[in-house]
Formats: sequence, structure tokens, C-alpha cells
Amino acid sequence: MRTAIVAAMHQELAAVLALLPDEQKQAAAGREFWVGHLHGQEVVAVLSRIGKVAAATTATALIERFHVDRIVFTGVAGGIGRGVHRGDVVVANGFLQHDLDASPIFPRYEVPLYGTDRFATDAALTQALEAAVRRALPGTHLHRGLVASGDRFVSSAAESRALHFALPDVLAVEMEGAAFAQVCHDYRVPFAAVRTVSDRADDAAHGDFLQFIEDVASRHSAAIVEAFLAGG
Ligand code: ADE
Repeated sequence: MRTAIVAAMHQELAAVLALLPDEQKQAAAGREFWVGHLHGQEVVAVLSRIGKVAAATTATALIERFHVDRIVFTGVAGGIGRGVHRGDVVVANGFLQHDLDASPIFPRYEVPLYGTDRFATDAALTQALEAAVRRALPGTHLHRGLVASGDRFVSSAAESRALHFALPDVLAVEMEGAAFAQVCHDYRVPFAAVRTVSDRADDAAHGDFLQFIEDVASRHSAAIVEAFLAGG
């Protein structure tokens, strides 16, 4: 069983990489993939970079070149759902693209020719990831639900409110997950994702994000990934 561990940015994965005792760096698709072991499990760790296209390239390379059996994404997100606060953790049960609009040919948000606007994460893997969050970060407020991805850093209260009004089920926004979910759907590779809420996608989002990514993101990711791999 080969598990891919992915984050978008270095700060989100640095502490995970520090845990790998025997990793070997391999270059592919303009990226570095760290192939090694953690808690006796085969692991491929990689930074996807930011945005849906970078995410799709990374997911495809992990599957085609590194033959991973499952993919776990970790990182931060902007909270837009009611009650989703900074420091909370969101485990995704599905993803949609909030910036996808092929209307009037297809309904708003629908991924053309897939007949759906959302891709579910793998139920068993998501359950295991949620259990790992509970073990790693006891007392943390944990949400499970829909996450929206787009090629935008959402950084105004007006945009955040508009997104919440248009998509009331969405808990948080980020920039990669929906691409991973769609590629993993295409290849039938189990996918799960966890995001710590770094900001509220409002007028303070920029500063909140930068502070959080340095202070908390890597620690949270490492604790969750360790608990997840230790637990099976
Ligand atoms: N990731 C973390 N915060 C975000 C935001 N406000 N918008 C998009 N992606 C994010």
C-alpha cells in the first residue's frame, strides 16, 4: 500500500518531510517527490504547488509515475461556512469548483460532461483521516463537509459572503482539492483531504493566512499525517 501525502506549499509539509527517515528525492513533472517510509508504510510526499492545474498535474504524476494506491491532501483553507473558525479543522466529504461556470450550456458549477458539480472523497479513507485528526488534535473543533476549490485566494468579506450565499453548504475554500478529487475519480484512486482553517476568507485573510502558515500549518499537518499512518 503506497500512500501519497500532498500539500500545496512548503510550510504545510515541512514537518512531515522532517519525519521521513529514509526518503529518496525523485524528480518528475517539474517537481520533487520524496519516496520513503513513515510508520512502516510506503509514502510518496510531494508539494503540488498552488491552484487546480498544478494540483491536477501532481495527482496525475502520483498515479501514473509513482503508482500510489491512495492520496491524502493536507493544508489550510479559508472558512466560509457559519461556525467554521480559524484553527478549526475541516475534513472534506466532497469538492466542487466555485469558479467553474459553463452556463448556459451546462448548469453553473457542473463539471461539463461529468453530469455533476461535485466529487465525493473516499468514504473509508475520509473516516480514517477524521479519526486521525481526533487522535492528533484532541479538543479541536472538527467539521466534515463540502469544500470548494477555485483559482482565487478569497480575501474580501464581500466575496466570502457572496460565496456563502451562492453555496451555503460549503464549509471552506482552497485552491487544489477539487482537482485532486476529479483526477482521483477518473483513475478510481481513493482520495481524502484535511484542511486547517487559516483565515475567514475576509478582508483580514491575507495577514491571517501568512501568520497561520508559518505558525501552525506544518505542525498540524505533521500531527495528523503521523496519526493517520500510525493508525493504518
Ligand atoms: N487557502 C487558505 N485560505 C484561503 C483563502 N482565503 N482562499 C483560497 N485559498 C485559501
